[in-house]
Amino acid sequence: ARLLEPPTVLEGRSIVVTAGPTREPLDPVRFLSNRSSGKMGVAIAAAAWRRGADVTLIAGPLDVATPPGLRIITVETTSQMRDAVSQALPGAAALVMAAAPADFTAALPASTKIKKADAGDALALVRTDDILATTRESRPASCVTVGFALETGDARVEARRKLVDKGLDFIVANDALEDGAGFGVDTNRVTIVHADGREEQLPLQSKTQVADQILDRVEVLLHGR
Ligand code: CTP
Ligand code: CA
Repeated sequence: ARLLEPPTVLEGRSIVVTAGPTREPLDPVRFLSNRSSGKMGVAIAAAAWRRGADVTLIAGPLDVATPPGLRIITVETTSQMRDAVSQALPGAAALVMAAAPADFTAALPASTKIKKADAGDALALVRTDDILATTRESRPASCVTVGFALETGDARVEARRKLVDKGLDFIVANDALEDGAGFGVDTNRVTIVHADGREEQLPLQSKTQVADQILDRVEVLLHGR
């Protein structure tokens, strides 16, 4: 069927997509992470592949199967994801950060198992690097860059702040507590907040449909660059 379709703007272009959570080790047997399944990021990577893009999927530990055809780089921690993103960026036409990197890591990861009695001191946390912010300089100037903002409550104000701070073309906001959106499920209801001020509220739909809506907008921006 693909052969009968016209080429898309993404055809033959390189796109970097991140998916899933990251894990920060606390000691040899424990880690800090979050409830991201990776479904949204994998749906975007698969949709980009169907459009003929050269896809690099940089994935933390996923709760979803990955389709064949994608170049997959598996990482565990936020700093590994940052390094993989910065390596993949040269030549990228687009970067879609659908991953939910862990925001904190152990100040001093323990090389032996932390004992209950010592937990108070052992669990000191520090912030991880912001991948979008720290890789901003290594992005090609024309790279269409998309972020996500999962909030509890009205996501639009926070989303606009993140869009500016992280230098994004648009950000896909959704409410983690809403039914049918957020973690683990196959559907999503999102608001797309654009750098030019526009906001679009999309209806509840499958993550595959949301992925195509996102890539349609990536292609519009790519077309103009
Ligand atoms: N992100 C990133 N590096 C991080 C954390 C997040 O690049 N260390 C990206 C995410 O992939 C997402 C966007 O930044 O595309 C927003 O992530 P989010 O967790 O909503 O925002 P944070 O900046 O981490 O702020 P907070 O969790 O405090 O709301
Ligand atoms: Ca975060």
